[in-house]
Amino acid sequence: MNVLRSRFFQAVVIWVLAFAILRFGIRPPAPWSVLSLYMFIISLALLVFVSSDRDSWRDFVRPMWLTLTDPRYRVLRTVIVFAVPLLLGYYAYTQAAARPQAPPELRAVHPAPPASIQFRGKEINISGVENPLRKDAAAFAKQVAVGHDIYVRNCVYCHGDNLDGKGHFAYGFNPPPANFQDPGTIAMLQEAYLFWRIAKGGPGLPKESTPWNSVMPAWEDRLTEEQIWQVIMFLYDFTGQQPRRWEAAEHASH
Ligand code: HEC
Repeated sequence: MNVLRSRFFQAVVIWVLAFAILRFGIRPPAPWSVLSLYMFIISLALLVFVSSDRDSWRDFVRPMWLTLTDPRYRVLRTVIVFAVPLLLGYYAYTQAAARPQAPPELRAVHPAPPASIQFRGKEINISGVENPLRKDAAAFAKQVAVGHDIYVRNCVYCHGDNLDGKGHFAYGFNPPPANFQDPGTIAMLQEAYLFWRIAKGGPGLPKESTPWNSVMPAWEDRLTEEQIWQVIMFLYDFTGQQPRRWEAAEHASH
């Protein structure tokens, strides 16, 4: 009965009860921030309670004082001296330790193109090839106009009439259609790279680009080789971007 009247024991019981009620008695559970705030207030109230008069305070401190000084409690004292730092250390460790996390989905948006592709039974070198239509500077405007037409017939639904990837269908797709106005797309790619992507589309992407449910269609059965070069010219002309050159690429890689 003596122990029940002890201020220290009472304080501990009230504290534990309050914690149990707040932690497990409330549905849905209160967040930790709220819980710790309430427990802080309860601790303050308990401190006021046990220190309300001198006897009460002495009563409260006595068990702690005895544990720390009385020869009878040597063993307990030694245990506490080791246990408290160990527990604190363990707590710090659990807070700092890395938690297992699902790996982020890494996928290459611009994977390395194959050296060459089969296009309607013909082998086309991707590495090193330039847009053949650019040789004839006099026909430039005409090729761009044809490319424009091809774009409006085939690509505008996804890549948008402003070439910014915001076509009618764009919002239904993940990944979204490429935004050609963005310097991160065609401006840093070679025309040969675009040829490969337009000819082979999402299905032609290599493994390092998966998991990637790209809806970019493969156009090799619908557009001719010439039409693909034409639409590429339109993409660059409309956006005012310059394709990356093979010489420039060589330079950059050295
Ligand atoms: C059904 C929607 C759809 C249509 C139609 C479509 N595309 Fe795409 N396109 C995409 C999506 C989605 C991506 C982004 C994913 C990817 O790279 O495969 C993309 C990517 C591209 C890329 C790669 C850009 C980069 O930065 O790697 C090019 C080039 C491209 N499209 C050109 C075209 C051209 C030219 C046409 C018309 C002949 C066309 N697309 C029609 C959906 C479409």
